Amino acid sequence: MVEPKEIPLMEKIVSLCKRRGFIFQSSEIYGGINGFWDYGPLGAELKRNVKELWWNTMTRQREDVAGLEATIIMSPEIWKASGHVATFSDPMIDCKTCKGRFRADQTNEIPCPQKPSKLVSECHGEKTAPRAFNLMFQTYVGPVQDDSSIAYLRPETAQAIFAQFKNVLETSRQKVPFGIGQIGKAFRNEVTPRNYTFRSREFEQMELEFFIKPDEVIEAISGSVATVPETGHPGEPQPDWGWQAWHQYWVEERVRFYEGIGLDRSTLGFHRQTPAELAHYARACVDILFKFPFSKRDEQGNVAGDELEGIAARSDFDLSQHARFSGKPMGVFDDELRGAWGKLPKEKQDDLWKRYYDNRKNYLTKSGVEAEPASKQATEDANGLAKGQYIPHVIEPSAGVDRLILALIANAYSEVVKTDDKGKSETTFVMKFHPRVAPIKVGVMPLLKNKPELVAKAIAVRDLLRPWMNVYYDDGGSIGKRYARQDEAGTPFCVTIDFDTLGEKPELLDTVTLRHRDDGRQDRLKISELRDWLLERVR
Ligand code: GAP
Repeated sequence: MVEPKEIPLMEKIVSLCKRRGFIFQSSEIYGGINGFWDYGPLGAELKRNVKELWWNTMTRQREDVAGLEATIIMSPEIWKASGHVATFSDPMIDCKTCKGRFRADQTNEIPCPQKPSKLVSECHGEKTAPRAFNLMFQTYVGPVQDDSSIAYLRPETAQAIFAQFKNVLETSRQKVPFGIGQIGKAFRNEVTPRNYTFRSREFEQMELEFFIKPDEVIEAISGSVATVPETGHPGEPQPDWGWQAWHQYWVEERVRFYEGIGLDRSTLGFHRQTPAELAHYARACVDILFKFPFSKRDEQGNVAGDELEGIAARSDFDLSQHARFSGKPMGVFDDELRGAWGKLPKEKQDDLWKRYYDNRKNYLTKSGVEAEPASKQATEDANGLAKGQYIPHVIEPSAGVDRLILALIANAYSEVVKTDDKGKSETTFVMKFHPRVAPIKVGVMPLLKNKPELVAKAIAVRDLLRPWMNVYYDDGGSIGKRYARQDEAGTPFCVTIDFDTLGEKPELLDTVTLRHRDDGRQDRLKISELRDWLLERVR
């Protein structure tokens, strides 16, 4: 007998996402467009919940973070200052045999032309030499299409935060250390989009730029910079934290966020970038990885995972670049620093002055400024310390919404095989989303559709809950089928209105059956307690 072929997990997930309306191929009726994806009714809700939770956790619930919503198209000068015009490129090669175009570092597996979610081996035809391919999508602003009207769709949301740093600082009454968060679309003309939505050409980011005092400033004010262990949460922010403590803090805060929406630590991985991998201005970068079904296994079967989010310590590079390119000062004035500086012994002042000078000069020369003007500028910057001035450094937790959605979907996916009395097996699917991200929070169902009293009561319960959460009313088919539909949508709770609700057993009047998705358990709950019971679990 021929065994049925095992369908790879990723294919099953892609198929469920389409069948249940989580993710569709963009422009599908025209054959699709590679690297672009749409979110269907359930996907749209899931995405909205994730962004809402990020925004709440990272901005509203914190005293020290403000929000921003900037435009996608900005002055092209921003992308010159950030380095994207000059260096945001991938090495690209062409195959002379199959005419395919690939990233030079990813030629052994490419997305299948018929089924982009599947990877296939590439042909062994002769390749051209690699050449740099800028990933920014280019457009023109206004009616004239020439070099003077070129603009770009932003490849990251971060740069708008740097460009608006001064405006936010002045209007939000924040003081360093503080952060600016933004959620929004980003666009990259990836050479080979791959792994379903993992590497797309249009995607969303959730980015925080958290501005901190340089270590020299902390030392001037607090006497020394706190040392923290390299792993574990360093606790509540302290005035003597330098960049290492803040970096470690944000890595751990972000892991807590993922744990809080159902991604257990065991599903995550970590990659601390090596000095060779780090951008020249970065001091450290830790990538938080998720173990996707397509993530590579080593010979022992261990999976490291693929990047969900990068948390980078970016020094004062970005603000410094915008200060140089725009000619507008990006530094801050700190009264506490000015006061503390005057009380420092001369040797300490000299030591801090020299270290700040060296860092500034290093940045300037690496950015292409000639030695003499770099020394002059660095001297001016270091002299500024005594007057309470400095350019803030930044820690950047930068997460991709779409990658997180894919991680949540892969994590939630589970199959249940049920065998009936006659030995016939059936596989059903349960999406075990954490209630906080689940697209539908509760399914409300009358036991029978043709009993007007049950239907009226069920509609009343639906309307009671609707202002507070996403409710799905369903009266079609057997109750078992309706539960199964909600299991596939990932709805954590279902509420059934039955004859006991109407008082058939008087002691159960105005109670409902509450069914739990993950174990099928059923409880009885009073309608008057339902809203608060659910809110406690879904928020
Ligand atoms: N501002 C820093 C920055 O943009 P990045 O590592 O290039 O850093 C941050 O991007 C996050 O954005 C990644 O960790 C990933 O989650 C997401 N991302 C980047 N490129 C992506 C793509 N082509 N498709 C989907 N998500 C992407």
